[in-house]
This record gives sequence, structure tokens and C-alpha cells, in this order.
Amino acid sequence: MGWKDKIKGAGFTWIHIVPSVRAALRCKKAGIDVIVASGHEGGFHTSWEPVHSMILLPAVVEAVSDNDTLVCGAGGFCDGKTLAAAMVLGADGVLMGTRFLATQESDFHPMWKASVVEAGDRAMCPTSF
Ligand SMILES: Cc1cc2nc3c(=O)[nH]c(=O)nc-3n(C[C@H](O)[C@H](O)[C@H](O)COP(=O)(O)O)c2cc1C
Repeated sequence: MGWKDKIKGAGFTWIHIVPSVRAALRCKKAGIDVIVASGHEGGFHTSWEPVHSMILLPAVVEAVSDNDTLVCGAGGFCDGKTLAAAMVLGADGVLMGTRFLATQESDFHPMWKASVVEAGDRAMCPTSF
């Protein structure tokens, strides 16, 4: 039994994160329900391909989006403005990681939460510290 039958047979929605159009096409062929295009902006376990969300998301939408395959953006999406931007780029929604790190429910140390809230545009650059 293949992954599609195992996952969908158990009643799950099958979601997969991809860093490239090539991987998105492979996912579509496998029958995945929701393909998440994760740009290089994504937090922590970041996409290994150095392609950013503004480029990757519309390219993945164009390659695989249809009535059977939803596409979500990931990497830098964190509020209503960025959700709206993803939808303008053709996405059906977004997946957020870093934003949830800084919520009350998160068990990350307050130091990490503060660094997310206080981050500016160059927050990941060594010279900004
Ligand atoms: C603290 C943290 C841990 C993560 N751990 C994983 C992980 O173990 N595996 C994975 O595939 N992605 C992981 N991610 C990436 C997220 O699944 C998601 O793709 C990414 O956070 C989306 O971009 P954003 O951080 O800009 O919202 C992690 C992200 C964060 C912030």
C-alpha cells in the first residue's frame, strides 16, 4: 500500500511542505491534498532551497493549483497583511511557524518570544545585534 492509500485511507488530509516547483510537481503526482510552498524566510527548520516566498509561492500556484490541490504559502507570513498578500499571489491560505513561537500558549523561553516581537527588518543579520 502506498502513502496515499495509507494516509487518505485513514481519513487524514495529506499536507506536504515543499521548497521548489519540482518538489510540488512530485507531490501533485503522489496525490497530496495541500501543498505548502515554503520560502527561504521560514523559521528554524528552514527551506534548504534559497528561493524566497515572493518567487516560490506564485510559481508553485501556477504549477499545481486546481480544485483537487490546494496551495498554501509559508515563510514570512505572520498576520492579516501577509495572509492577504499570499492570497493575491494565488494561495488558498498560509502556514505560520515563527509567529506562533511568540504566543502566550507557546512554551518557548520569554527571551525567544521577545526577540521575535522586537525583531526589525535585519533581525537575522549579525550586524544588527
Ligand atoms: C521553532 C520552529 C521549529 C520548527 N520545526 C520544524 C521541524 O521540525 N520540521 C519542519 O519541517 N519544519 C519546522 N519548522 C518550520 C515550519 O514548519 C514552517 O515551515 C515555517 O516556520 C514557516 O515559516 P515562518 O516561520 O516564517 O512562519 C519550524 C519552525 C519554527 C519557528
